[in-house]
Amino acid sequence: MNTPANQPATVPTLRDILSARLRAAFAAVFPEADLAALAPDAVPATDDAFGDYQCNAAMAAARLLRLPPRDIAQRVADQLAGDDLLARVEVAGPGFINLTLADTALARRLEDLHAAPALGIPQPGLGKTILLDYSSPNVAKPMHVAHIRSTVIGDALKRIHRALGYRVIGDNHLGDWGTQFGILIMGYRHFLDTAALDTAPIDELQRVYVLSHQKCDDDPEWKDQARLELVKLQAGDPDNRALWQTFIDLSLAEFNRIYDRLGVSFELVRGESYYNDALPGVIAKLENLGLVRESEGALVAFLDDDQLPPCIVRKSDGGYNYATTDLATVFSRVEEFQPDAIIYVTDERQQLHFRQFFTVARKAGVQTRLRHIWFGLMRLPEGLLSTRSGTAIKLDLLLDEAERRALDIVQQASPGMPPEQQREVARAVGIGAVKYADLSQNPQSAITFTWEKALAMDGNSAPYLQYAAARISSVMDKYRERFPDGDFASAPITLDSAPGRRLALRLARYPDVVLDAALQEKPSLLADYLYELSQLYSSFYQNVPFLKAPDGVRESRVRLCALTARVLRHGLELLGITAPERI
Ligand code: ARG
Repeated sequence: MNTPANQPATVPTLRDILSARLRAAFAAVFPEADLAALAPDAVPATDDAFGDYQCNAAMAAARLLRLPPRDIAQRVADQLAGDDLLARVEVAGPGFINLTLADTALARRLEDLHAAPALGIPQPGLGKTILLDYSSPNVAKPMHVAHIRSTVIGDALKRIHRALGYRVIGDNHLGDWGTQFGILIMGYRHFLDTAALDTAPIDELQRVYVLSHQKCDDDPEWKDQARLELVKLQAGDPDNRALWQTFIDLSLAEFNRIYDRLGVSFELVRGESYYNDALPGVIAKLENLGLVRESEGALVAFLDDDQLPPCIVRKSDGGYNYATTDLATVFSRVEEFQPDAIIYVTDERQQLHFRQFFTVARKAGVQTRLRHIWFGLMRLPEGLLSTRSGTAIKLDLLLDEAERRALDIVQQASPGMPPEQQREVARAVGIGAVKYADLSQNPQSAITFTWEKALAMDGNSAPYLQYAAARISSVMDKYRERFPDGDFASAPITLDSAPGRRLALRLARYPDVVLDAALQEKPSLLADYLYELSQLYSSFYQNVPFLKAPDGVRESRVRLCALTARVLRHGLELLGITAPERI
């Protein structure tokens, strides 16, 4: 991505600006202090009553400067007094410095935001590449709840990082290789019901796999034959290769249908098989570096120094492990894309695997930042899990039901809307509700999905936010109808009401929130923010007249509405959720 020469790559955010003022004030008053250690940063105030931002550095500085924290805070506050950005600087409690922005400065900040490309979101990612490994279901198996969460969270992380200027390569690392394929080939040859394969291919592949797997347990000859089929597949036998390709094609067709419904896409779909030929080279590399040794016939990386259990990279039968493939994958990605970071999104049960293979990768020279983002599992309502395994999800049913329930809501809210449009809106609302129910939670907590919560029109849900955005659009329509010659888009913003000012402050924080969601790898931070924003908008809307306000004041208020709608829509889009113009 190129940045025009006249445009700074990174726009300072409100927090950056205030932190810079604080740093300058500390430096002026305490020239000898180590600012890097003190980090006198501005953080949003925990309570509006304390001001807009606060700085807690005086407490830490007290130890370094050997002065009472309140004295330090007071001297810094005195130094900041008269700053045109600030209306008030106060010292509170043990030494907090509370900052209240001047209304004019806040209003100007919003006008800048409104005019800035991409709402003033900073661009720390320009020139940087992130490889994002997400979704990654297994061929010939139905999608698991974990794959759904990985898909939705991974897609949001991709959008959020892109908004910050990163080049993000999304890679769907399909599980398309391994011992299960010998068993599956046997099952397919002996038990296949072709009619069932036509109607529900993955279910049928799963069924014949389970049958064949059972037979392996009862019949040693069957098991030997399955092993033989696997060896043939690995050696490139054309029949077995063709079958294997069929499994992949059938699975991908079904996965892609789900990705289409969810509005998710990938830049790469490289399964584990892509790295198969590289596995012996990985072993050779680890051996040359002295990172592995033989143990009971297997080849093992011992990670005692890192307080981790040993990581087997080649089994005693000569087969390779999940970790071996992931090592081959990371070497290949580093070489091909030179990413600044590789982010993997999976459920919590894989934490140990990632810690182990990250450790081996680092010892083998990988310097790229490797991150495992894990999440808890999600409990779904009765009937949405397949009966065979408790976690394989009937995602189509879930999405169908979401759209059906959303259609009820839309029909009630907009009985006059043409049916085709109602269905389209219901699609956005239903899919959005399912995604948001996932994204709005701290990823690392176990969550329970309920329809009541996902579709609540008065709670922290996608429909609530989508509806808020649509309502604001209709305010602007009314404005344009009544004042066809009016121009709110360039009207100066004045903050003349308390609810308006509270809303304005949250709007001005948007770029920092997007940044934090990426830094902390938590789309839920963005969701929380959007929910708070729409609540503040509601209070503004209910308490402050827009269209009935005097000339000028009206335009200023409508402009605040317009900016709120833009931020809401932009934020929802970063979560992968469409906000229809009308609901
Ligand atoms: N296919 C794996 C599973 O279903 C997830 C793969 C995650 N990515 C990775 N590079 N290991 O559990």
